Amino acid sequence: MPETIRIAGHTSVDASALFKLIREVYQSSPFMSEDFEEKFPSFSAFQDFLQNINKTTGAFFHVALSDDQPAAYLVIEPKQASRLKHTAWLNMGVLENHRGKGIGNMLVDAAFEKIQSENIIEIVYLMVRADNLAAVKLYKQKGFEIAAKLEKDTKIGSQYFDGILMRKFA
Ligand SMILES: CC(C)(COP(=O)(O)OP(=O)(O)OC[C@H]1O[C@@H](n2cnc3c(N)ncnc32)[C@H](O)[C@@H]1OP(=O)(O)O)[C@@H](O)C(=O)NCCC(=O)NCCS
Repeated sequence: MPETIRIAGHTSVDASALFKLIREVYQSSPFMSEDFEEKFPSFSAFQDFLQNINKTTGAFFHVALSDDQPAAYLVIEPKQASRLKHTAWLNMGVLENHRGKGIGNMLVDAAFEKIQSENIIEIVYLMVRADNLAAVKLYKQKGFEIAAKLEKDTKIGSQYFDGILMRKFA
């Protein structure tokens, strides 16, 4: 039977399951700009992050459930400065064994539906490594435009990687 994919708010999933989901995505992607442990040094740091999402106007955290199991996530975090609050960062990731099945596509569509219905966020930004071809293709397909190419944005050891700043108006 084909799997059923459904998008839900993060509160419908245990925080520990979300923590595990994000850790697995980070550990299976070479394109992230930081290690998972750097992003969330502890489970309590992750819980603080979730609380912050809950209390920030325009912020949300969507989870894609495959047959009710967390398979992917998308987070929208508005910028903090008072004059930039109409803009937000997008972050997303899909578990390795669920990539290429259209889940990323569904998550971006669901996020823009919510953003358009709330009318709080007007511009969504994201940063992606230029060699992350799957991600760049997905974002272009979803209508993100390239705002800037950032040469040597990432450095791993002595190797540099270009970054791409993309944005989409809601
Ligand atoms: C990038 C990522 C979010 C895409 O999500 P996904 O669910 O795999 O993507 P989808 O299946 O919805 O595919 C959407 C489009 O992306 C492109 N795409 C997806 N996987 C691809 C791949 N391996 N190679 C090339 N293009 C790919 C295709 O154009 C596809 O459109 P199509 O169905 O018309 O061919 C996912 O692969 C991922 O989480 N990667 C690791 C973490 C990461 O890189 N996060 C983004 C950081 S900016």
